[in-house]
Amino acid sequence: MPLSRTITLSMPQPDIALLSLDMPGKGANVLSRSVLDELAAHLDALEKRTDLAGLVIISGKPGTFIAGADLREFAASLDVPNSEVVAICRRGQALFGRLSACPFITVAAIDGITLGGGTELTLGCDRRIVSDSDKTQIGLPEVKLGLMPGWGGTARLPRIVGLGNAVEMITGGESIDGHAARLMNLASDVVPPSDLLPAAIRLIRAEQQSGVWQEDRVRRTQPITISDTELGFLGATASGYIQQQTRGHYPAPLAALEVLLGGAGLDVEAALKMEAEAMADLFGSPVNRSLLNVFFLGDRNKKETGLQSIPHAPREEDITRSVMDTMGGRAIETVSVIGAGIMGQGIAAANVRRHIPTALSDAQPEALRRGVEKILEEVSYNKKLKGPDAHRVVEFGPLLSATANETEIAASSLVIEAIVERADVKQSLYGKLEPLMRPEAILASNTSTIPITTLAEKLKHPQRFAGLHFFNPVRKMPLVEVIRGKQTSDETVATLVAYAKRLGKSPIVVADGPGFLVNRLLLPYMNEAALLLLEGVSPKAIDRAAKNFGLPMGPLELFDVVGLDTAQHAGRTMHEAFPDRVVDSPLIANLVAAGRLGQKSGAGFFSYRNKRKRAEPDPALEQFVRPLTSGKSQLTDEQITDRLILPMLLEATRVLEDKIAKDARDVDLGLIYGIGFPPFRGGLLFWADTLGAAAILKRLEPYQALGARYHPTATLKQLARDGKKFYDE
Ligand code: NAI
Repeated sequence: MPLSRTITLSMPQPDIALLSLDMPGKGANVLSRSVLDELAAHLDALEKRTDLAGLVIISGKPGTFIAGADLREFAASLDVPNSEVVAICRRGQALFGRLSACPFITVAAIDGITLGGGTELTLGCDRRIVSDSDKTQIGLPEVKLGLMPGWGGTARLPRIVGLGNAVEMITGGESIDGHAARLMNLASDVVPPSDLLPAAIRLIRAEQQSGVWQEDRVRRTQPITISDTELGFLGATASGYIQQQTRGHYPAPLAALEVLLGGAGLDVEAALKMEAEAMADLFGSPVNRSLLNVFFLGDRNKKETGLQSIPHAPREEDITRSVMDTMGGRAIETVSVIGAGIMGQGIAAANVRRHIPTALSDAQPEALRRGVEKILEEVSYNKKLKGPDAHRVVEFGPLLSATANETEIAASSLVIEAIVERADVKQSLYGKLEPLMRPEAILASNTSTIPITTLAEKLKHPQRFAGLHFFNPVRKMPLVEVIRGKQTSDETVATLVAYAKRLGKSPIVVADGPGFLVNRLLLPYMNEAALLLLEGVSPKAIDRAAKNFGLPMGPLELFDVVGLDTAQHAGRTMHEAFPDRVVDSPLIANLVAAGRLGQKSGAGFFSYRNKRKRAEPDPALEQFVRPLTSGKSQLTDEQITDRLILPMLLEATRVLEDKIAKDARDVDLGLIYGIGFPPFRGGLLFWADTLGAAAILKRLEPYQALGARYHPTATLKQLARDGKKFYDE
């Protein structure tokens, strides 16, 4: 028996046993192999006892019950044979099954996060009591990792909550709160966290009287009662919905649906066996590996302070108290946002939502008025009400102030500039504001392309200036690039990283340079789309190729969303910086000159003059393309994809060579969190590793005549020579 370290047994009443989980040294309980062994050992002893009326399982950690299986153990066993995966699933299923075969009633008393294997453990129990805390979230998110529940979830959940509810929870992977759990009969009661244990004991007493738990045990071993018509309808609607959501890129939800529907007509033992076998097909699959990588990228990012990215960074234990304090985010008490446009609104709303007092200003009074209106609309929106929530207006409204007073704007501990993308205008604003700012306050720019060191040229305190680049729309995109100018101090970087995390964002620290990280990679891809158009490829075919690759929208539609004028500015910066490989397309300039700026003007590459403002092919585009086109293209879909993605990949290798990003993992995280690079590919460089550098060199060969943008870089050639991967570093 392993050392009993996570699970402790106590006896709150003479006939009630309590197993309490509290993993030492961890913020959350996870089901590692050794914790499962501990549970088995406890059950070995408890099952033999004849003096027990019930067993309660509870967590000793506030805010989490069990966060799931130990994913690092998973990741270490991705290469095991299918038979071993089946055996692992069968062992877990059998262990949790013992919870409803004991000679007494078992109750899971759930407060806080309960996910994956943790939820499956509770499904093995006879009953569940949940807390009404906001932190209580119960879910089976395995599909989000390219898997399905493998420890009994697909067989046991539908036998408790009904097939329809189980299909929704398992194939969607979303969690539910305590009240929703009660409503679908997943929980017998929902109580305040302090009443959890007493409520579980009360339930055991009531069940002792009624004996219903024993009837339920029998029922839950049997097939589910559902008519063929109902089953057929559920299958058709669910698979239609899943296909629309996953666009065929994520196999797990459909596989889980098949198991849920197939297992419904079987007894629970046969359904469990079916689950284990289907899980083995998903475990270790390319999509599973990719999604696990994305999970680990996010997990690593959460732990970073920003100092890891700084060459010769002081060790954390050596840095001063003041840096430590700011790393906790305490230094930022108030924020000013200058520029009430698209980005300023999003940034201000993100602050207000986190209860940070925010002052907003704009050179145009009308823009300021509209900005305030939009921000209040955004922060007071309640999804459940599908509209504004008066409580939220009262809660958030006082945190936002609109002002034109420079002294007031400069008084904040952080001033974020989000005005027009022109270095001279930005610098002139800084000239006025900096002398009014507090000595410890930070000035940051949301510029998307202008080098931070250039913007800092006339500043008296460039060490307290950095880039803080949010992505559009701010509400949705988790990425923030913290850009370190030549003179930006460690303290400024660490403070901004902590602050971005406080906003709920995932910051990465990047070095200064044209386009920083994400825009530098995005531009070659978007540029290529404009060039393909002139080779005679249709706009539809270009965007379809990108979407088939998995990107959330095609590059031409993205041009329209960003605005062709903005993209032209950015393109010019990149062309000036990298004239060897960034081709300046005359098409963009012509479209801008004709007022086709994209969505905002009603037309760009596509037209948006329809009821739903959706991208539609626009025959008028032809008159701009025809004079510049070189004929009708013969490119296949696969070649179009290569043409779009390979220049981005090569630029990523240059970004590593120029040390713009700390490593391949930051490049991947940046693209996934900043532009929605498809998670099922694991990241641009992770995906490149699955192909191998030598195969990429081969794929580049047909495009060599197109110029430097397709020429292999030193890094790629080196990796191919050494048989190494980007992720080996
Ligand atoms: P926008 O045009 O929507 O808003 C800019 C606002 O700044 C306008 O309301 C304007 O009246 C105001 N403004 C201009 N000069 C000013 C001054 N001297 N003092 C005070 N206010 C002034 O622009 P958007 O899109 O919000 O961009 C702002 C910044 O964010 C730019 O640097 C842009 O490159 C960057 N950015 C834009 C993204 C996008 O997708 N639009 C994404 C990430 C960064």
